Amino acid sequence: MPDAPLPPRSPFRLDGRVALVTGAGRGLGFEMAKALALAGATVAINGRNRERLDAAAAAIAQAGGRPVRAMAFDVADSEAGTAAIAALARDERRLDILVNNVGARDRRPLQDFTAEEAARLLATDLVAPMMLARAAAGHMVAHRHGRLITVTSIAGHVANRNDPVYTAAKAGLTGLMRALAVDYAREGITSNAIAPGMFATETNEGLVRDAQFSAFVDIRVPVGRWGRPHEIGAAAVFLASDEASFVNGHVLTVDGGQTVRM
Ligand SMILES: NC(=O)c1ccc[n+]([C@@H]2O[C@H](COP(=O)([O-])OP(=O)(O)OC[C@H]3O[C@@H](n4cnc5c(N)ncnc54)[C@H](OP(=O)(O)O)[C@@H]3O)[C@@H](O)[C@H]2O)c1
Repeated sequence: MPDAPLPPRSPFRLDGRVALVTGAGRGLGFEMAKALALAGATVAINGRNRERLDAAAAAIAQAGGRPVRAMAFDVADSEAGTAAIAALARDERRLDILVNNVGARDRRPLQDFTAEEAARLLATDLVAPMMLARAAAGHMVAHRHGRLITVTSIAGHVANRNDPVYTAAKAGLTGLMRALAVDYAREGITSNAIAPGMFATETNEGLVRDAQFSAFVDIRVPVGRWGRPHEIGAAAVFLASDEASFVNGHVLTVDGGQTVRM
């Protein structure tokens, strides 16, 4: 990416809040965890690879965030996720923010999927966030405060070719987010989504290096470039903040205008 990230200077503060961000060892999850920590939250980051998590926790601390706790588990293992959330809520005496960020991708035409392969992808991308939200909300109700933040995708609104299971999962997550917004609002818990567009994350490194694809991004995205990973952080901080108390059931699209272009 040509430009260096701007220094974080969020007007929203999260001091005293406790957050868990899944899939935060790198990419957008890492950036959201860092932004939450820099805004004053106590943050736990999740992933499966402990070394990657420890490195991410150290990078957030070095950036000036509060100490970050690494919680290694596979989000598809609902018992492990529920136990991790219970441990975090017990140790920190509360849980305020869940960022359901993990989203595995398997771009193939539907004809190439077996039922088992489709079910496995949906288990990670749709059922896992559902069960994590269930566990987190169970603790949030005690304090009558919570922020459920679901990372969907612009693929939740518009479909790309040969990506049917991921697209179905992201559209399903959008529905889940709205259902939780309706069900938990009177418990002081809001539920919102962040729908990223095309970001120059590690996962997309190959596409970013592909001159033809990057030229397509320049034309297709009104802002005229890939999203810089740090540009997702403020969306999470805002939705997690007290200032967003009346924002419920919303999809905050962060895509440089890609999905509003004719
Ligand atoms: N990047 C984009 O341009 C873009 C665009 C639209 C939407 N999104 C969405 O944004 C989210 C983050 O995307 P990303 O590209 O930043 O992610 P990523 O780099 O592909 O993955 C982030 C982290 O998730 C962890 N992870 C993967 N599967 C896991 C599992 N089953 N349990 C626990 N951790 C797991 C991985 O760590 P370990 O290997 O250590 O587990 C990895 O470090 C996803 O939901 C994605 O669909 C991204």
